[in-house]
Amino acid sequence: MISDKAKEIIKYHEATKHHFERYARSLGYMDWSNQPNPFRTYKNTPLLKLPLLKTDPPASHTGLYERQKNAPQPFEIETIAGFLELSLGLSAWKAAGSSRWSLRINPSSGNLHPTEAHLILPALDEQPGGIYHYNALVHALERRADLPADLWQSLVSHFGNHGFLLVLTSIFWRESWKYGERAFRYCNHDAGHALACLSFAANLFGWQCVFLNELSDEELEAILGFDQVHFRKLEEEHPDCLCFIFPSGPVDIPRGLPADIISDLANLTFKGEADILSQKCVDWEIIYHTARLAKKPPTGKTRIELERRKWLTDMPGPLSAADIIRQRRSAVAFDSSGFFNKNKFLSILDKTLPRKNMAPFDVELTEPLTHLLLFVHNVADLAPGLYFFLRRNADFNEIKALCRSDFQWAPEEKDFPLYRLAEGNYRQQAMMVSCHQDIAGSSAFSVGMIAKFKKIITAEPYRYRHLFWETGMIGQVLYLEAEAHGVRGTGIGCFFDDAVHEILGLSDNRYQSLYHFTIGQSIEDPRLTTYPPYNHLKNSF
Ligand SMILES: Cc1cc2nc3c(=O)[nH]c(=O)nc-3n(C[C@H](O)[C@H](O)[C@H](O)COP(=O)(O)O)c2cc1C
Repeated sequence: MISDKAKEIIKYHEATKHHFERYARSLGYMDWSNQPNPFRTYKNTPLLKLPLLKTDPPASHTGLYERQKNAPQPFEIETIAGFLELSLGLSAWKAAGSSRWSLRINPSSGNLHPTEAHLILPALDEQPGGIYHYNALVHALERRADLPADLWQSLVSHFGNHGFLLVLTSIFWRESWKYGERAFRYCNHDAGHALACLSFAANLFGWQCVFLNELSDEELEAILGFDQVHFRKLEEEHPDCLCFIFPSGPVDIPRGLPADIISDLANLTFKGEADILSQKCVDWEIIYHTARLAKKPPTGKTRIELERRKWLTDMPGPLSAADIIRQRRSAVAFDSSGFFNKNKFLSILDKTLPRKNMAPFDVELTEPLTHLLLFVHNVADLAPGLYFFLRRNADFNEIKALCRSDFQWAPEEKDFPLYRLAEGNYRQQAMMVSCHQDIAGSSAFSVGMIAKFKKIITAEPYRYRHLFWETGMIGQVLYLEAEAHGVRGTGIGCFFDDAVHEILGLSDNRYQSLYHFTIGQSIEDPRLTTYPPYNHLKNSF
């Protein structure tokens, strides 16, 4: 039996599909005068300016994922600032003519950045404990509430470990301003990207980031004191997830918080006014309706058991982990003749497999629910065509039975879940199904992320959001791996959903394509000038 909640969520999904003859509902033009500010400020809060890293953590490419090489750093303002700089900070400013815009370490659909972060920190250096909002523009923490030392002590006793807490939230309006009703999907992709960014950056400091999956969204709102904040209507922040960040090690971290700690946090006095982001907001009602239905209730203890696996190929790139993170950018055009080495291609795919004790999937969001449909255009020693990368072997028979019967399902590598479905030139099709965007067809390969859908939402409607988070996390791995291997990637949120399903032969919603990606030899736009991320703080921009 499918609940009304699940039915309504699936209705949202159907209503926000792009079709060849009709895009999902949006304004249809850019209302520049109402463009939301991508940086939120909590006005009238004490500002704790954070230092920028003088030296990046030394981790190598594989140190992004592996923990053993990254010695745990102490929790200090400097290290937490470094963690924020390398997860959610600015990565650059771009300029073209008289326009300037900032880019961030975490990518975002349309560069609109719906994701915000709040931290619950202990007393550090000279600073008392508190609940803070991170402002990436000025790389500073806005102190929204004071945290009594004994309350922090209760948190330490509960976790049996030192560390700190971080909550991600989303402001839907920032995305719906441009993308209308489909924006709820993009906010969730972005949350997934941000979650992976947290996990990678934490790892560079020898810390681990774990998703506290027992808490409800209402509890997160309470912890953040949102009932004490007057948000302008439609500019509210909607909580996504609470993470605990602690020194990596074989410890069993609780995934919830005791009720008394939640109520003590909720009863703190919160200061600060959330600033106004736009002159006028548009109410894309279906987003708020779906968000209410997809709110997470409190749930029981869940542990996600991930497999231990060796890397398929040992192909570390020459860049350090921090360089990879800092130089990540979305490609805007590709050189279609740019050929790509097969081992690198396999190594990129391999990194998307979840592994025990490895970033980023050991945040333990979910067991793998998403597979990769690959449009291979130009990978040396691999016939161009359609391939399938199975991230969970148990789904093989089900997916195979749902797909076109003439697919080959020929294993491409020994002990590696890559299957050739059909040979041929799929450049045109890849481009066509990605809203006619060249980047999907001119790259070395592009990807459709095919997630187990109806069963997950029917069982637990709130996991509709988690499916998008998982795809965002995979997208972040693809972005970083592309950089590590000297190529470049781009997330693709705009695609014709059912046209993708048709290529595979999927005729129902047991699986759905939720996000696309493309990787290749990037062609840079010579009209753009790049500036360093934080020169504006020195007034020398
Ligand atoms: C969820 C998501 C969807 C995206 N969809 C598209 C897309 O359809 N087409 C495109 O050219 N870029 C797309 N992008 C790339 C963004 O436009 C890009 O991340 C943003 O402009 C910031 O630039 P940066 O990634 O270089 O920091 C997407 C990015 C994300 C995270």
